[in-house]
Amino acid sequence: MARKAAVFGCSGQLGVELVRELQGRGYEVTGWERTGVDIADGAKVERVLAKLDPQVVFNAAAYNQVDIAEKEPQAAYVANALGVRNLAVACRQTDARLVHFSTDYVFDGTAQRPYQEEDPTHPLGAYAVSKLAGELYAQAYLENLLIVRTCGVFGPAGLRTNRGNFVELMLRLATGGQPIRVVEDHIALPTYAPLLAARTIELAEKNHRGVFHIGGGTPISWFNFARLIFESAGFKPSLQPTNEREYRTAARRPKYSALSNEKMERAGLAPMPPLGECLKTYLVAREKLVNPARP
Ligand SMILES: NC(=O)c1ccc[n+]([C@@H]2O[C@H](COP(=O)([O-])OP(=O)(O)OC[C@H]3O[C@@H](n4cnc5c(N)ncnc54)[C@H](OP(=O)(O)O)[C@@H]3O)[C@@H](O)[C@H]2O)c1
Repeated sequence: MARKAAVFGCSGQLGVELVRELQGRGYEVTGWERTGVDIADGAKVERVLAKLDPQVVFNAAAYNQVDIAEKEPQAAYVANALGVRNLAVACRQTDARLVHFSTDYVFDGTAQRPYQEEDPTHPLGAYAVSKLAGELYAQAYLENLLIVRTCGVFGPAGLRTNRGNFVELMLRLATGGQPIRVVEDHIALPTYAPLLAARTIELAEKNHRGVFHIGGGTPISWFNFARLIFESAGFKPSLQPTNEREYRTAARRPKYSALSNEKMERAGLAPMPPLGECLKTYLVAREKLVNPARP
């Protein structure tokens, strides 16, 4: 009999890839987007999971509006902390395994090397606090739990999601004809969503539990990532470096948020390919979505 998997947030960048990868591996997959099941609705979460009785539950649902969260911290907390609590309680009742996603933003970015799973957390804003609280809630209710922290996710579904992703933002700005300013003093680890989905499912299938980091493998400044995007897509806009002092955002962000994949690799998973390769694959996949008729 096929193993049953549930995916919450199934139309987000990562959710789409989890569904695809799970189906490819022979799972019977049920996915819900927010209009189907809002994870903030505890009674509904319990009802749908009791009815489905899956072996494994993936939570790709999240409130990801990092700057807006500073104006509406409750909304971030409801989805990212209490929503995760709802899932954890329901998984405990049905004996399902929870696989939950968290963020590099649980760290403050003062490290001089990629963050490891045991490093002390120190979130810098409302979104980051809500995500850390989600981790704590999941750990409070469940032992058979996998938490994957990731960073700078980009997947082809970002073309159509409310929040989009950095690649889509850059491609949109490139067609606007205006100079584009991007921070050069913040380092991230852009992560390709299909690979994140595949590596996470592999960890879950190998029965790993606890916290794992899965980042893209190539630490890079946002400015250099923008440059790589334009080179890969064949655009030549006016790209100018800026920095945190000149480009103020409502939320503070960690300046250095590369995550170490060492633990993942020690678990026997393949290292992530170079970012340039992932970006090329992304651009091909997005082209197929934009122009489905083109051969
Ligand atoms: N994107 C990044 O750069 C990044 C970086 C680090 C970590 N992460 C983490 O990686 C995971 C996946 O992120 P992603 O990039 O795939 O995000 P995404 O594309 O923004 O997708 C998130 C999905 O969650 C849904 N959602 C929001 N609130 C919900 C709720 N209360 N109940 C049910 N669904 C809800 C959203 O639906 P609506 O569109 O209808 O709101 C959206 O479809 C998240 O845990 C995120 O925190 C992401």
